Amino acid sequence: MTVGERLQGGAAKLRRRGVPEAQANADILMAHVLGVGRNEVFLRRGDELSAREASAFSRLLRRRLLRIPMAHILGVQAFLDFEVAAGPQALVPRPETEELAAAAMDALRRRWQEPLRIWDLGTGTGCLAVALARFFPKARILATDKSPAALRLARRNARANGVGERVHLRRDDFFAPRRGRRSRPRAWADLAVSNPPYIPSRSLPSLMPEVLREPRLALDGGKTGLDALAAVIERGAQALKPEGVLALEFGRGQARRVSALLARRDFESVRILKDAQGLDRIALAVKVGRNPLES
Ligand SMILES: C[S@@+](CC[C@H](N)C(=O)[O-])C[C@H]1O[C@@H](n2cnc3c(N)ncnc32)[C@H](O)[C@@H]1O
Repeated sequence: MTVGERLQGGAAKLRRRGVPEAQANADILMAHVLGVGRNEVFLRRGDELSAREASAFSRLLRRRLLRIPMAHILGVQAFLDFEVAAGPQALVPRPETEELAAAAMDALRRRWQEPLRIWDLGTGTGCLAVALARFFPKARILATDKSPAALRLARRNARANGVGERVHLRRDDFFAPRRGRRSRPRAWADLAVSNPPYIPSRSLPSLMPEVLREPRLALDGGKTGLDALAAVIERGAQALKPEGVLALEFGRGQARRVSALLARRDFESVRILKDAQGLDRIALAVKVGRNPLES
């Protein structure tokens, strides 16, 4: 059977099973099997598939028919101009998170050569931490997560992208009470970024089957979807230096409530940015400057 015939059959099966972007998925799986780029698959439509290639394609197709996410099947996901290993341990990075990374970079671009201190809260695959470490060559990034499996994956991704030395992984819970004797924790960060879980718990069952294969910890934002966002804003407010920047991703319809949470917690100059679909999805806010009346 030729590449083209096998592709046609595979795409039809995916379509019948309701898999979105069936043809593109079949093309990408075939490209993976042949070890070529997606464009080249098109050029090779007339070629005969070897028995080994045909059975490899069938194996991948069966997994996709079970609605296993493409990134889990391929084991990799592109993020901006690099790749991260992906799997069921952590959320597969999304395009809107690339926009969050770009917004955070843009906010501090004039300081790109400074030894910035950055905190990525809920790092998952480490995509944001790696992106920021690559963009800010002298920055040190603290990347935290509650999930040990996600932290292991993030460590692997930081090392594979050559920034393992400057990305420090640590287990931390957004909701953990402040430790230590000092009543006010030290403000140390120039930038805090987070894409926390923000889906209201009751909406989880209606998500796409692929999303339901991702860790619930990465998705579930509690009753209103705002639990983790509120905790991250609180932690960011404690950790950021005066005039430090907080960059957050949030869900559809949450912009007004996120802005209110930020205003309540010493943030000013709040800017809400839209994603590629024109929806409000990103908040940038500046921690209020030092009060001259404070010592
Ligand atoms: C939406 S995912 C984002 C992952 C990654 N930053 C990205 O943008 O692709 C949220 C991350 O927060 C982590 N997380 C969830 N609840 C947490 C908590 N209470 N404390 C710390 N991390 C938590 C999850 O394990 C997950 O990795």
